[in-house]
Amino acid sequence: MAVSYSHENVVEAAEFLKTKISTAPCYGIICGSGLSGLGDKVEEANIVKYSDIPSFPRSTVQGHKGQLVFGKLSGKSVMCMQGRFHPYEGYAAWKIALPIRVMKLLGVKVVIITNAAGGINRTYKVGDFMILKDHISFTGLAGYNPLTGPNDDKFGPRFPAVMPAYDRELRAMFHDTAKDLGFGDITHQGVYCNVAGPSFETVGELNMMLRIGGDAVGMSTAQEVVSAAHCGIKVCCCSLITNECVLDYDATTAPNHEEVLETGKRRADDMQKLITEFLKRL
Ligand code: HPA
Repeated sequence: MAVSYSHENVVEAAEFLKTKISTAPCYGIICGSGLSGLGDKVEEANIVKYSDIPSFPRSTVQGHKGQLVFGKLSGKSVMCMQGRFHPYEGYAAWKIALPIRVMKLLGVKVVIITNAAGGINRTYKVGDFMILKDHISFTGLAGYNPLTGPNDDKFGPRFPAVMPAYDRELRAMFHDTAKDLGFGDITHQGVYCNVAGPSFETVGELNMMLRIGGDAVGMSTAQEVVSAAHCGIKVCCCSLITNECVLDYDATTAPNHEEVLETGKRRADDMQKLITEFLKRL
């Protein structure tokens, strides 16, 4: 059984994509649940299905398109992933690194990542934005790390630091963009807790996350950030708070996926505005 992609696998995927595009992308975008409409805004779009790209994992989540969109957004050359790969789909962790490494070979310098997340911080409301200043990856700490297996020195070191990927300047720029668009009061900078899912967290688990400094929780992003950090790509990540996490044992409400999707739909336009304006300023 394979334990990672070979360097040749990544090169093959990147070379295949080069034959499909006319301009190399500078920025990568990964769209979270309910937020992939941004990819439809890409101009001069060149769409490549994951299933056509050598070695690329397949997207299994219903409603995720499973394609890369190359083109222009706010005048910038982008490649946008419509559909991402989550631990709960059953992928080996190293598979999640592939799209990021392909981005690296195509020349991407910054990846903008969005996700849907539950609000743990009691000041966060449904519909708020949270810029990630860090993550606590329960999956990573438990051994689900995309860098597990033989290290590919051509991408990065065996023991990389992750924090430099959460670039302070990019975070400040994104926050300023949010303020200028009138979203200042509903935009926070916080710590994202990554869980494997697909079951939602228990009340006890959420209270633990609150106590150790978590502000929001979700089932994606951390593996992508670790992969980006490894190969020297900076990230700018923004969660949409789609639901308020239930921290009370006696509560009668329970989290559900419908609420996540519904909030995503309702706030998708504002998230798109935020990202397109941010791209303009990059
Ligand atoms: N927990 C985990 N993942 C999520 C949540 C949540 O409450 N909301 C959106 N994604």
